[in-house]
Amino acid sequence: MKTLVASVLACASLLTFNHQAAAAPIEIKFSHVVAENTPKGQMALKFKELAEQRLPGKVEVKVYPNSQLFTDSTVLQAMQLGDVEMAAPSLSKFQKYTKQLQLFDLPFLFKDIEAVDRFQQGPHGQKLLKSMESKLLVGLGYLHNGMKQLTANAPIKTPADIAGKKYRIMTSDVLQAQFEAVQAIPLKKPFSEVFTLLQTKAIDGQENTWSNIYSKKFFEVQKYATESNHGLLDYMVVTSAEFWHGLPDDIRGELKKALDEAIAHGNAIALEKSKSDREKILTSGKTELVEISDAERAQWVAAMKPVWKMFEDEVGKDLIDAALKSNQ
Ligand code: LMR
Repeated sequence: MKTLVASVLACASLLTFNHQAAAAPIEIKFSHVVAENTPKGQMALKFKELAEQRLPGKVEVKVYPNSQLFTDSTVLQAMQLGDVEMAAPSLSKFQKYTKQLQLFDLPFLFKDIEAVDRFQQGPHGQKLLKSMESKLLVGLGYLHNGMKQLTANAPIKTPADIAGKKYRIMTSDVLQAQFEAVQAIPLKKPFSEVFTLLQTKAIDGQENTWSNIYSKKFFEVQKYATESNHGLLDYMVVTSAEFWHGLPDDIRGELKKALDEAIAHGNAIALEKSKSDREKILTSGKTELVEISDAERAQWVAAMKPVWKMFEDEVGKDLIDAALKSNQ
């Protein structure tokens, strides 16, 4: 009898153990390259907060900022291999996986972030979230950062001012063509190296949003920032198809809701930071604002717009037309 009771107890404790093991929280590693005090950094933290609040004990979100876990050139492959569950690279960094997202890099395409938003939330933008399904990557939503500005140690007002200067770019052939169109020398480099490249003068300048220029201190090593608003830096939040579709339906649903709310939070921060980080940079006294006149802007547009034609076949004319419609 004693032996029977002992074996029943042993079985029961084994079952409890198994149940606990089965109920271990699902771990979601979220890797990104920017600082925490940025739209993406804040969005990722908000996602963690909301997901863990709504799914207590069921999920654990671990956010790795500042390229701590992966750089943008390695994160998507790592995601396909199951080494990381979520990331939000800039739209410029997907060209190995789909050519269509190159649309967002075309210079002077969108007139402002509201137009970008109309396009992203419209049918074409939503379809692009699925453009990497054959590569087993699922787009869960877009996040704004903002329009890019040009920084340098000399005032850049016209295309002639930038000719011959070395500019760091993200890994995008469109951005390469954009800088070549104004006779500058583009260099594809990871975000994590930009500050040192600027500090050591290995490059002359870079293009980025006000929040990235501020949070990564590029303004401390660049004397001028040209408010050109010539291009967009936005993100796509992505996950692996295997991970996402393998989740129980209720958990997937709650995670998507948490992410949508976190994105709305990140977008509000993006809007706010495009003004406040700009102010902080200019009041620091380290970087001087360079404003361009309408006539100077027309020179940039004339020099860079031929890039659209170069990528029209890869991107698709229908997408370019839809993007232009969102400006109206
Ligand atoms: C860059 O590389 O400049 C940006 O993509 C960084 C980021 O994620 O905002």
